[in-house]
Amino acid sequence: MRAPTRLLIVDYDNLILDQLMTLEKSYNGLLNIEPVQEDHIDQDKLSEFNVVIIQIEKIKDLKKFSETIEKHFSGKVLLITDKYVDEKTRLAQTLGYNVHYKFGSSNALAEKLFEDFKENIIQKREALKTVIKEEDTIHLCVYSPQGGSGKSTIAINLAIQYTKANKKVLLVDMAQIGSIGAMLHVPNVHGGFSKLLERLEVEMDQQDLSHVHEECFYKYQQETCEFDILMSSSLIKMEKMRSAEVGRIQSVIRNLGYDVVIYDTSTEICERNLSIFDDCDKVVLVSTPDIISSWKLIQVKEILKTVGVSQKCVLIVNRFSKHLGFTNEELEIEMQMPLVGVIKEEKWIKYNVNEGIPITLQNHNKTNEVFSELAHKLCLINKNPKKKWGFKK
Ligand SMILES: Nc1ncnc2c1ncn2[C@@H]1O[C@H](COP(=O)(O)OP(=O)(O)OP(=O)(O)O)[C@@H](O)[C@H]1O
Ligand SMILES: [Mg+2]
Repeated sequence: MRAPTRLLIVDYDNLILDQLMTLEKSYNGLLNIEPVQEDHIDQDKLSEFNVVIIQIEKIKDLKKFSETIEKHFSGKVLLITDKYVDEKTRLAQTLGYNVHYKFGSSNALAEKLFEDFKENIIQKREALKTVIKEEDTIHLCVYSPQGGSGKSTIAINLAIQYTKANKKVLLVDMAQIGSIGAMLHVPNVHGGFSKLLERLEVEMDQQDLSHVHEECFYKYQQETCEFDILMSSSLIKMEKMRSAEVGRIQSVIRNLGYDVVIYDTSTEICERNLSIFDDCDKVVLVSTPDIISSWKLIQVKEILKTVGVSQKCVLIVNRFSKHLGFTNEELEIEMQMPLVGVIKEEKWIKYNVNEGIPITLQNHNKTNEVFSELAHKLCLINKNPKKKWGFKK
């Protein structure tokens, strides 16, 4: 067994400590850690530790802190923040520190602390020959601070594209007021999140997982496509959802062997949405080409940077027309993120939504091509390029 990683945690509460202890327990034998929680950093004792985790508010002067660390410590430093936008956090990033959003997922925390964490889990799971196929799953989420920009339309049609490529797909409606049900004419009678959250209140074992499909997921079936949907719960339940609940839902989803999981979100920058961003491989940001939508996205960019997810963000411009407030190039430069797709504003798209028929299940070759290319790009830039996904061009 490897020597334990000694972690010094300087925090106001036990949240990070508890997360690490839970992780150690759940990844039985994989993490060998010795966390010590202190009220302050004692520089004489720093050499006893491999990692320092410190709540950013505990640091009075970042530059002085930086000097002390450089002089007395050669291990890893992780700063914890609980604010979305914060000058100190931005300064810390400029100084080259790794920052973690406190209410993010515990897996994301572990990935930041232990470089080989993900790799180890995959190896361990293979060795155990469990049904878990996490290494194959791609987690995407679609977000925009602008209502009506096309998040749900894009999430649904991406799901269809992956289904067309014979992938097992789960579409999760994480919006505060979900609209996937209305858009796909899903009957309002099955479990969804309400049932899943109820189920999560009791401990689940591997066998219970098989019931999740039947009880909580809706099977969307058309002649040419089939995927599962996890429907959102009531507005109040969605609004109250905290990162711990999101984490538990995600850990169930990770055990179900999907190839692609797509989260549709809503406009708020809240704990629920931030936890999803944290845990996804790619965050697809949608903008319309008008000045208001682009402006809102630019405001959000700072938050995404602060919580450390901006590197995995990509842009889509939807409802593209000639009447632009921002050009695509301007948006790309301003956001410093790659533009991976442009979808035109089409009257027929709007009309067909009411019929409950997703746009890429109709014979509009050009729109189909745009979505197919988009789905392809999102996988290629995300995962191991050696892995072939079998998309037909
Ligand atoms: N490219 C497009 N051309 C024309 N209409 C579109 C296009 N994309 C989306 N729409 C229409 O815009 C409306 C809003 O789309 P959608 O519900 O996908 O947006 P949203 O961002 O998910 O909204 P919300 O913020 O309410 O969740 C729908 O009626 C949809 O049909
Ligand atoms: Mg929506």
